Amino acid sequence: MISKNLNDELNKQITYEFYSSHLYLAMAAKFASIDFTGASTWMKTQAEEERIHAIKIMDFIIEAGGEAKITGFEDPEVKGEDLKLIFEQALEHERFVTERINFLMSLAGDEKNYAAVNFLNWFVNEQVEEEATAEAIIKSLKLIGNDGNGLYQIDKELGARIAVGGAEPQK
Ligand SMILES: [Fe+2]
Ligand SMILES: [Fe+2]
Repeated sequence: MISKNLNDELNKQITYEFYSSHLYLAMAAKFASIDFTGASTWMKTQAEEERIHAIKIMDFIIEAGGEAKITGFEDPEVKGEDLKLIFEQALEHERFVTERINFLMSLAGDEKNYAAVNFLNWFVNEQVEEEATAEAIIKSLKLIGNDGNGLYQIDKELGARIAVGGAEPQK
């Protein structure tokens, strides 16, 4: 069983995860337009992962006997045309998602819904990883600054990220 309140908040989280997917796809498009094809590939994979997160939550609600709802959201906004600036926006967004997951976790705890607590644990760990990954990329980008060779190298490294489902990374 799942309470109406937790069901509603989980439905909201589905929307946030789909929004994350759209935001990262918008970032992928922006990177492609400024010729950072590696970073573009990286963001496309990120977008796929967020879509999987949304469906994971949807499946949990259904399994728990609740009602999953898919809703719309506003257009994603990507500011600027700078690698570091855009990854900083991604980190800022991940921090917001972490707050949401923490909120859902405390709600599930208050309701003594331990199945939900257990389910949300995966997301707690995922958020630690997501923030750490974005922070590490930003740290590298800070060191690189405007060095063309450094930017070329990091773009190549970002492009080596394996796509969801194990597809070959873009060359
Ligand atoms: Fe996510
Ligand atoms: Fe994420």
